[in-house]
Parts: sequence; structure tokens; C-alpha cells
Amino acid sequence: MQRYHPFLVVLHWLIALMILVALAAGGVVLANMPPDSPDKVKGLGGHMVFGMAIGVLLILRLVTRTRSTHPPHATTGTPLLDRLGRWTHWGFYVLIAGMVATGLASALGAGLFPIVYGGTAETLPPELSDLRQRAAHGVIASLLVALIALHVVAAVYHQFILKDGLLRRMWFGRRSA
Ligand code: HEM
Repeated sequence: MQRYHPFLVVLHWLIALMILVALAAGGVVLANMPPDSPDKVKGLGGHMVFGMAIGVLLILRLVTRTRSTHPPHATTGTPLLDRLGRWTHWGFYVLIAGMVATGLASALGAGLFPIVYGGTAETLPPELSDLRQRAAHGVIASLLVALIALHVVAAVYHQFILKDGLLRRMWFGRRSA
């Protein structure tokens, strides 16, 4: 089997795109808005729905991955790098699930659902910034950015240095050699 199941391919690129948007919206836009801005409440409404959708797609991908055949782990010829590659893939599941869980915990901890979706207040409660789960959401976001950078470097290394056509596995086409 030389390629991933097409549904896994769709989910891979869709989740990748959605994570980049969520990281930019959270880390660049929301984080730089003053907490008393009404625009922040609206922005957070979008961010929370988007983040929860990522969580649903992640579960769907995990279930499809365990139920479909997929290519063997890519090799580099260096056992340590191969092990790092396998950890990176599971690391993504852990960190993305961690983002969704800490995001949800922040929203629940600060009572954001009625504010954001029920219009019960115009600004965010100040205690949001003191929550431990809110701090964890920021730390995991930084780890996720680092893992994405590592993943991209590895893909470029396979594609252009090893020239093993790795990216083809995560695209559409005939699945067997
Ligand atoms: C993979 C999914 C997600 C990603 C990549 C993501 C990304 C981010 C980032 C980068 C920040 C800013 C962190 C910082 O600068 O410290 C942030 C803030 C936040 N996110 Fe998420 N997030 C995700 C899911 C969620 C979910 C599911 C919720 C809630 C249902 C949520 C609620 C929040 C809240 C409440 C903040 C704080 C806003 C603030 O204090 O300014 N996030 N998110």
C-alpha cells in the first residue's frame, strides 16, 4: 500500500489548514485584542466553534486511521530519525487534543459559552487570563508550532534530499504500487 486512504488525505490537509488558521486567529488576532473589546467576544465565538470542529475531525481521522490500511512508516536510513518521525505523528494527536481540551476547559472555566453564544455580557470576564488551563492553551500552542516546523523540515528532507517521493503518499491516486 503506497498511499493513505483518500479520506485520510482530505482530513490531513483540511486539519492542517484549520490548525494554521486557528493558531493565527488565536495567537496573532485574539491574543492582541484587549479583553474588554466587544470584537473579542465575536472573534472568540468563531475561534471556539472552529477549534471544536478540529476536535471532531481529529477523532474522525484517528478512527479512520485505525480502520484503514496505510503505508509502512517512512524510513530515512537512520533509526533515531525514524523513531523521531513516529513520535512526531503521535505528538500531533496529543498536542491537538491538548489544544482542544484546554480551550474547552478555559471556555468552561471562565463561563464563556453563555457570553459568547448567548450574549449575556459584552466583554470577556477578567478571570480568563488567570486560569491555568488558559496558560496551558498558550504553552501547547507554542509546542504545536515547534512540531509543525519539525514536520515541515522532515517532509522537505524526504522530498528533496532523500528524493523518496514521500509527499505522494499523502495525496490522491492509485493506492497500490
Ligand atoms: C486545535 C485547536 C485550537 C487551536 C490551534 C487554538 C489556538 C489558540 C491560540 C494560539 C490562542 C492564543 C494563545 C496565547 O497566545 O496564549 C488561543 C486562545 C484561546 N482559545 Fe484556542 N485554539 C484551539 C481550540 C480552542 C477551543 C476548542 C476553544 C474553546 C472551545 C478555544 C478557546 C480559546 C480561548 C478562550 C482563548 C483565550 C483568548 C484570550 O484570552 O485572548 N480554543 N487559541
